[in-house]
Amino acid sequence: MGYRIVHQLTEKQIDELVTLYHNEFWSNQRTRGGVVKMLQNTNLIVAAIDDAGRLAAFCRVLTDFVYRATLYDVIVAPTRRGEGLGRLIMQAVVAHPKLKEVELIDLTCKPEMASMYEKWGFTTDLGGTISMRRRRSPAE
Ligand SMILES: CC(C)(COP(=O)(O)OP(=O)(O)OC[C@H]1O[C@@H](n2cnc3c(N)ncnc32)[C@H](O)[C@@H]1OP(=O)(O)O)[C@@H](O)C(=O)NCCC(=O)NCCS
Repeated sequence: MGYRIVHQLTEKQIDELVTLYHNEFWSNQRTRGGVVKMLQNTNLIVAAIDDAGRLAAFCRVLTDFVYRATLYDVIVAPTRRGEGLGRLIMQAVVAHPKLKEVELIDLTCKPEMASMYEKWGFTTDLGGTISMRRRRSPAE
């Protein structure tokens, strides 16, 4: 099966992305409306599409294209894992011409995924800093 990298999704591929999101622990509550708004406001989308036009792998980047970028939602379709698609999209991200200038690329993952991201130069060494996060409470 051949794959091409795209930076925009068709309506049908958006449906397929929503299905991929519904399989993953961090994104299983996402709605199609939310995903459409998210895609409209995401700086860079990297997706692998098969010969039949189906979404096979996805990730996205929020960035200023100079100093900072954050990688999100690295997902390969469940039936296509272990075939190199994760590598294909990670390679397409780190080599993307629009990200060439970016000083730091961040991502968040479970500890057991670190060895995968290390293949593309990511490290758990944050140079003495820590990561912090604020989650909006339902009452707000
Ligand atoms: C993680 C995921 C994207 C990997 O995709 P994949 O297509 O199976 O990965 P590939 O076959 O391209 O493998 C790429 C490399 O990463 C390694 N790798 C893949 N999954 C890994 C894992 N869970 N832990 C450590 N290394 C892993 C492979 O061994 C391979 O190494 P190599 O090329 O040096 O031999 C895929 O399993 C997935 O979508 N998982 C569910 C969503 C998820 O957890 N995403 C990550 C969120 S942080």
